[in-house]
Amino acid sequence: MRVLTIIPTYNELESLPITLGRLRAAVPASDVLVVDDNSPDGTGQLADSIAAEDNQVHVLHRKGKEGLGAAYIAGFKWGLAAGYDVLVEMDADGSHQPEQLPQLLDAVDQGADLAMGSRWVRGGSVVNWPLYRQAISRIGSTYSRIMLGVNIKDVTGGYRAFRRTTLEKLNLDQVESVGYGFQVDLAWRVAKMDLKIVECPITFVERELGASKMSGHIVVEAMINVTKWGLTARWNKLTGKTPVGSRS
Ligand code: GDD
Ligand code: MN
Repeated sequence: MRVLTIIPTYNELESLPITLGRLRAAVPASDVLVVDDNSPDGTGQLADSIAAEDNQVHVLHRKGKEGLGAAYIAGFKWGLAAGYDVLVEMDADGSHQPEQLPQLLDAVDQGADLAMGSRWVRGGSVVNWPLYRQAISRIGSTYSRIMLGVNIKDVTGGYRAFRRTTLEKLNLDQVESVGYGFQVDLAWRVAKMDLKIVECPITFVERELGASKMSGHIVVEAMINVTKWGLTARWNKLTGKTPVGSRS
């Protein structure tokens, strides 16, 4: 399996080199693609200098901050075009411990179409994560689960390994969410396709360096979208229209 780990960055100058070092040590076989949104702090240039010394590290530069979802979609397209078999999502700030990546890759190896790192299954946990963030995550996950009818405990989580064929079946151009709602959007699209999703317990460790890019605006966008998708799906079911799922 050729594996590509995609790391989106926006102002991660301090965290990125540490995370990259840990990842290259923990899973040397994985290539890496840093997707930088022209970070003002120079993360993109730093990534270039690391890539110059390590031919398994690549950098995709984007014009400006267009959101997590847009960065991942650009990264997925790059990785699919380059022929990778498994594409991994990982935060740059160390919250997704590279040492736990083998668990996700094993799950894919054993047949999962999507392996998701999960904080909210037995064995999963969070370290140093503020209570209000835990509350947003748990409430957001539960709300999405009920609204969308998906049986995933940590549906907003962003530590994932996709089998190539899973991404090929999604129509990436139709994914419109730009913020972190993107994670819910993608998980829901996969769930509707009757593919095998496996949740693997992870320990999510809050960053020690730099700042989160999460904002109230991002939370509101995600809540509105989940509500919209859930109601549309119910309406279509009631009126016998083609389910929303068939668009992907
Ligand atoms: N290229 C790019 N563009 N990268 C971005 C952008 C953007 O607009 N916004 C955020 N990122 C990158 C950050 O640099 C980091 O590597 C990663 O995305 C996650 O951002 P954080 O700001 O650290 O997220 P968080 O810790 O608050 O949120 C975590 O929990 C969310 C809710 O469960 C992440 O795991 C999210 O993926 C998750 O949805
Ligand atoms: Mn973070």
